[in-house]
Amino acid sequence: MCGIVGYAGKSNGVIPVLEGLSRLEYRGYDSSGISTKVENDLSVYKKEGKLENLRTHIKDLNLTSNLCIGHTRWATHGAVNDTNAHPHGNEIFSIVHNGIIENANILREDLKSKGYNFNSETDTEVFLWSITDLYKKTNDIEKSIIETFKKVDGNSAFVIMNKENNKMYSIKRSAPLVCGLNSNSNETYMSSDPYALVGFADKIYFPEDGILCIADYTSLTNVLKFKNLDGSTSKDYKVQDNTMEMESVTKGGYDHFMLKEIFEQPGLIRKLTQLYLSDDGVKDLNNFEKFSSKNYIHLAACGTALHAGYVIKNFIERETKIKVGTDFASEFRYRKPNISKDDLGLFISQSGETADTLACQQMCKDEQLYTLSIVNVNGSTLFRECDKNLLIHAGVEIGVASTKAFTQQVLVGLLLSKALASNIDKDVLLKEFNTLASRVEDVLSRKDEIKNIARAIYNKKGFIFTGRGEQYPIALEGALKLKEIAYVHAEGYAAGELKHGPISLIDEDMVNVAIITPDLYDKTYSNAQEVKARKGILVSVGEVNNKELENDSDYYFGIDFDGLVHTKPVITNVVLQLLSYHIAKIKGTDIDKPRNLAKSVTVE
Ligand code: G6P
Repeated sequence: MCGIVGYAGKSNGVIPVLEGLSRLEYRGYDSSGISTKVENDLSVYKKEGKLENLRTHIKDLNLTSNLCIGHTRWATHGAVNDTNAHPHGNEIFSIVHNGIIENANILREDLKSKGYNFNSETDTEVFLWSITDLYKKTNDIEKSIIETFKKVDGNSAFVIMNKENNKMYSIKRSAPLVCGLNSNSNETYMSSDPYALVGFADKIYFPEDGILCIADYTSLTNVLKFKNLDGSTSKDYKVQDNTMEMESVTKGGYDHFMLKEIFEQPGLIRKLTQLYLSDDGVKDLNNFEKFSSKNYIHLAACGTALHAGYVIKNFIERETKIKVGTDFASEFRYRKPNISKDDLGLFISQSGETADTLACQQMCKDEQLYTLSIVNVNGSTLFRECDKNLLIHAGVEIGVASTKAFTQQVLVGLLLSKALASNIDKDVLLKEFNTLASRVEDVLSRKDEIKNIARAIYNKKGFIFTGRGEQYPIALEGALKLKEIAYVHAEGYAAGELKHGPISLIDEDMVNVAIITPDLYDKTYSNAQEVKARKGILVSVGEVNNKELENDSDYYFGIDFDGLVHTKPVITNVVLQLLSYHIAKIKGTDIDKPRNLAKSVTVE
């Protein structure tokens, strides 16, 4: 989703800003732009489409500027085009914005009535003309930003530069935004993601909401200043050394990042065993027994992370007496759930920046619940806000459709369930994790079998994924993956629910991808036969050497589940990841950056 990078310093800011934006490309965007200041004149350059279009557009201009802000936009208000791309600017200010101004229409009408003309369809321009209006009246930049910020509703982050001075300003509400400092050169940065500043800033400042951040590289004392909304100096920020490293973001010989990430899974499973199941690592799982008396866990997440949450709910309820309520984060936050401060909040997220998930965590925190995350990005907002975090150590996930993060989330969730039950038999778990890693390798080595199934079914009318019990979440995840990247209609269903509606869809052009493992085998097998009886195409994922299933299925993929007591959902999911990947590849879609999707959804 939208990315922001800004620079104020004595060098040419265009270089780090473009580099930072390119690091945020993987999150999904549809246009990009930068603004520079040369001799008190602000200029804006922006282009629809890939960042490469912007680079080509400015290539011969040799832009140099001590102040530069840049943006990758994922459209919310207004079509994808050059005009709606950020930055938005006039003769006094240039601004970039992530998030949504919910009362934009009212504010726009007011500004129009004052004679301001809007160029774009964006909500962002409301902020631009409002600060301009106030600045014309007060000649006070800080006050203009603060007063405008107070007027806008919704979660947003803004970075602003102006033609009057060499300062860059930012302010945010429930949206990611950090400031960066290179303490040797005194160069300053602002960004929606510290990852954009790796190698540029050695100190990262995390301001709280409603703090005006001011970067002034010409200042002799503090090049970064923080102010409260009343103008007083603020200490409401955290500062950290920037210890992030640029991870290798090459495809490493694979056609797509998604495929590379699918193939990384055995290695990552083994990495988890070292990190959590070694003598030293197991310490991270200590002290969870204190939660064993809890009655209720509220688990909220979005997308793939929620599907991992459904698997984790089963683990926790199997291992402990604690009830687990699972919710779409976007529903939990508005449905007034019964929350007691003695409950536990559990939030699952790859990015740690998903707006709805963060809002749920905040809601639980406000109700004084202890909050816990299963998260990939160390230092993300979720990571910083929760009382305790279990990192999934999946490394950077570039493919928009999440794969390896799911696997790691489920496994860390399994460890959590064991920790809550004070039942960590390290050797047993270690054995299962190692077995799982080898079995996933076996599945990956059989990718051509899955490719052949994909070839046979890729152009069918629709897909219903089914599973029961622990495989039901995998049916949901399999269907999500397929629709995300192959742009076909796919639904995930509990197998027992088929005859309560979806079975009417079954004909010779409908595919049922049925996950039929030894758990609840007879019942799930019967459901698959009901599909076959109606001429549906049956793709089954089941236990190896199951002749009955093999004979009844149009296409069958057998897995050796021996030794996989808890982790069958992980391995069946890997088969479905590859199936979606190959169907999408045959269809020729943009697998790593599917249309309309964003990696990190920072708006509601
Ligand atoms: C987006 C992504 C999904 C992801 C979901 C939750 O929709 O496209 O792949 O599962 O957000 O993201 P999170 O970072 O919170 O896991």
